Amino acid sequence: MAKEHVSHSDIAEYAKEKVNLPKDKADEYRAQVQRLREKLEGYISEYPDFTLKKMILSGSLAKGTALKSLNDIDVACYVSGAEAPKDVKALIEYLAERLRKAFPNFKPEQVKPKTYSVTVSFIGSGLDVDVVPILYSGDPNWYGDLVSQDDGSFLKTCIPRHIEFIGKRKKKQEVHFSQVIRLAKQWVYFLKSENENFRFKSFMVELIMSKLLDSGKDFSDYPEALQEFFTYLAKSDLKELIAFNDYYPLSSIGSHSSPVKIIDPVNAENNAAKQYNIQQAKAIVEAAIDAGDAIDAAMAAPTKKETVYYWQKVFGPSFQI
Ligand SMILES: Nc1ncnc2c1ncn2[C@@H]1O[C@H](COP(=O)(O)OP(=O)(O)OP(=O)(O)O)[C@@H](O)[C@H]1O
Ligand SMILES: [Mg+2]
Repeated sequence: MAKEHVSHSDIAEYAKEKVNLPKDKADEYRAQVQRLREKLEGYISEYPDFTLKKMILSGSLAKGTALKSLNDIDVACYVSGAEAPKDVKALIEYLAERLRKAFPNFKPEQVKPKTYSVTVSFIGSGLDVDVVPILYSGDPNWYGDLVSQDDGSFLKTCIPRHIEFIGKRKKKQEVHFSQVIRLAKQWVYFLKSENENFRFKSFMVELIMSKLLDSGKDFSDYPEALQEFFTYLAKSDLKELIAFNDYYPLSSIGSHSSPVKIIDPVNAENNAAKQYNIQQAKAIVEAAIDAGDAIDAAMAAPTKKETVYYWQKVFGPSFQI
């Protein structure tokens, strides 16, 4: 591939400047959550029967895949006890009420129930913290029923294992694995800005990247790694089953009827792509074909100006070198 105009290191520089959440911000947000966790732990030590058992950072800040465009901090909160409502709306109200108890120095309006989560906002600094409930019945590995942020359904899953799953793979290709994930998420972010109906969940991107990593792909050259990702989407047409044997044998995966099958690595019965219909899958595949074509064109372009033009088709106008 000809790379005289935009090279791997140009993409790496773009990522550092425009895509990645800067480390000082990530540290600040993690510290913000740590303070909430400690408050909750303090409350629990005084009232051991309290039904909020634990808060953990989840989502991209926990996995080290956050973008600069991050707009809230995801936290999961384990809720146990017989009186915890099983109906989502009531559960969210209940969680808000319990959080207000545990954080008495927050004004009631700083703890606001939303549709499927509770927002805790800080006065002055920091981002809002989005607290998502997990109904918990004491599993030692911290499995529980997570309220889906897509439709409010309960998903049996395990956040600590998700973090471990990604962490294990990050170690295999340090820096590069999470960087290529963030670049792909930037592509999705740009597509969503152009088309409000476009959907491609970050967790799905991460699982597809994990599959490519496990199959031996090298992520150290960013244009090539992105091209591998787009080629995979185009070739598989998103019709292949994507699954992992870290926590269960592949033979335990039953039949999943949705068109896209990207199975939760910690629960063989949970398809993380179950929400996606054929049209949505097709939109992803078509966008991937376009992005792959744009990278090919960028590689072949005779001038820097044209090369940048093609990379902007992948990342949008934020791409400048
Ligand atoms: N369908 C699902 N099944 C199981 N767990 C899920 C599912 N969707 C989300 N999760 C959990 O929620 C976490 C956050 O979701 P997701 O990866 O989509 O967002 P994110 O990593 O915070 O990315 P973004 O930068 O888009 O906010 C995942 O890492 C996973 O632990
Ligand atoms: Mg998130």
